[in-house]
Amino acid sequence: MTGLDPTKMPRHLAIIMDGNGRWAEQRMLKRIVGHQRGAETVQMVVDQASGLGISYLTLFAFSSENWSRPKLEVRALMALLKKYIRNELRRMLKNNIRFNVIGNRADLPSEVNEILDDALRQTASNTGMVLTLALSYGGRQEIARAAARIAQQVQDGKLQPSQITEAVFSQYLDTAGLPDPDLLIRTSGEMRISNFLLWQLAYAELYFTDINWPDLTINALHAALADFQARERRFGKTSAQLNQRS
Ligand code: IPE
Ligand code: IPE
Ligand code: MG
Repeated sequence: MTGLDPTKMPRHLAIIMDGNGRWAEQRMLKRIVGHQRGAETVQMVVDQASGLGISYLTLFAFSSENWSRPKLEVRALMALLKKYIRNELRRMLKNNIRFNVIGNRADLPSEVNEILDDALRQTASNTGMVLTLALSYGGRQEIARAAARIAQQVQDGKLQPSQITEAVFSQYLDTAGLPDPDLLIRTSGEMRISNFLLWQLAYAELYFTDINWPDLTINALHAALADFQARERRFGKTSAQLNQRS
């Protein structure tokens, strides 16, 4: 697309897909209709990201905290998820996308887990974009689970406390093997992280838009990417250091 530099794409794009419920409520529709429309936006974004050469796309689809929503909404979301994965599998295979899941899968219904396992298996050897869905995911819960596993390794004598570096800790997170996100987009005007990828977002560029997720267009997505490309990522250094050629 015009205006975007293909050499400066985020390697890893993470998105908090928010505003489905409000999108529906504003139209006097049931919230689930907003989630259904939101699933169409997911397809658009997956196609765009893989077409633009983004290597990793991570989507926040259901948080640990979302279990406290009304039972009916949770059930409808799980049903939609099953339908979405079934539909999306064909497209993932066609587009060489490798599917991945992070979050506490033990809390998901078994039929959902079966469909996820099937998609993981069938796309395991794909070499294109890695599409990660965060399901029943919470950043604090993930960090606590990693800490528990590390403690177990230490107790078993397989790891020394002095060996627990940032790199080692990362390998115990659900995102082991994925690079940290370069850009986080959140839709619907909320300016918070809501327990998403707390460790991994340490140096991500943040981009917030007022658009509700079902209304996100290709142009709006490209605008977020263009904004990212115009930023200077300093990682603690000075601007002069970054601009000196050596
Ligand atoms: C995001 O939309 C999808 C999920 C959290 C599952 P919301 O359902 O949070 O929509 P709003 O924030 O109520 O508008
Ligand atoms: C965050 O959205 C989770 C997902 C997008 C799946 P929420 O709508 O649940 O976040 P809060 O509760 O408003 O912060
Ligand atoms: Mg919300």
